[in-house]
Amino acid sequence: MNIEKKRFYFDCDTGIDDAMALGYLLAEKESVEILGIGTVCGNISAQQGAKNTLDLLRLAGQPSVPVAIGENSYLYYDYVCDVQHIHGENGIGDLVLVPSASHTITESAAELLVRLARENPGKLDIIATGPLTNIAKALQLEPLLPELIGSMTIMGGAALAPGNRTPVAEANIACDPEAAALVFNAMNNIVMVPLDVTMSHTFEEEDRNRLLLSDKPFAKAIGEMLEVYTDFYVDTYGRKTCALHDPVAAVLAVRGLDACIAPKVKVVIDATQGPGRGQTLCDMRGKYLGYPEPLDANCHVVLGTTQNMADLLMHKLLSVG
Ligand code: BDR
Ligand code: CA
Repeated sequence: MNIEKKRFYFDCDTGIDDAMALGYLLAEKESVEILGIGTVCGNISAQQGAKNTLDLLRLAGQPSVPVAIGENSYLYYDYVCDVQHIHGENGIGDLVLVPSASHTITESAAELLVRLARENPGKLDIIATGPLTNIAKALQLEPLLPELIGSMTIMGGAALAPGNRTPVAEANIACDPEAAALVFNAMNNIVMVPLDVTMSHTFEEEDRNRLLLSDKPFAKAIGEMLEVYTDFYVDTYGRKTCALHDPVAAVLAVRGLDACIAPKVKVVIDATQGPGRGQTLCDMRGKYLGYPEPLDANCHVVLGTTQNMADLLMHKLLSVG
């Protein structure tokens, strides 16, 4: 039986955990087709993110996935790279990969997304694991984008959990709250994978060692770059470990809502200049009634998963290439 593959546009700021998400998506090649990848500034510049992505695709033996460089500044603010202590100077833990012979395409990430959405009406799903600037730009180019795409899964936000960039804001939303506000106001089929869930799924040192011992170059490279990422998390968890932010979002985008607990509620982005800037204000007041879906609900907020994400991810990462 021929199962139709899910078609994805992947928007990322590659990024160590973005690299893990990419590896997972490539490993799901029986059920996933990545039609294009766009990079955005965030963990690293959009140009460096594209280079990282192309080099990782080469390492995984899938060098022909189209990669477009996206926005290198936010909607209203300049980009400043300030997360070298988390992702290294080059975004991938200072690991030097063999350069890919492939080049980025000439379209911008927003143009690529719009073209793919028009070519695959209702059939294209978006995964976004960086700031939402490219998606906002795509909405400006094509206001009918929400009707053209199937679903959009984002890693970002914090529903009831604290933020990681400010007391209330998660990094991807905090980088460009105006873009996030535009996206959340325009779309009503978002799946938000917030810190509430991603902080509970980790790779420990024994997991990193399993990757390092792999004879597959992609898995080994992830193990190597995790050295920097897991060092960063010592101050958060008290041990060398790391949160699986972007890969959890990628898994849930592929496996769907059956793989998680995700009430559909109204989410508003704080794009003010006050202390709440970048917060995802999630209306969780339905909690005691089991979250009946309100009429203005725009977003499934993932609060838990039904599977062990670390095990699933390890299994998949070890099979890439
Ligand atoms: C998010 O911020 C970035 O540093 C990670 O790649 C992830 O997308 C977590 O808040
Ligand atoms: Ca990311």
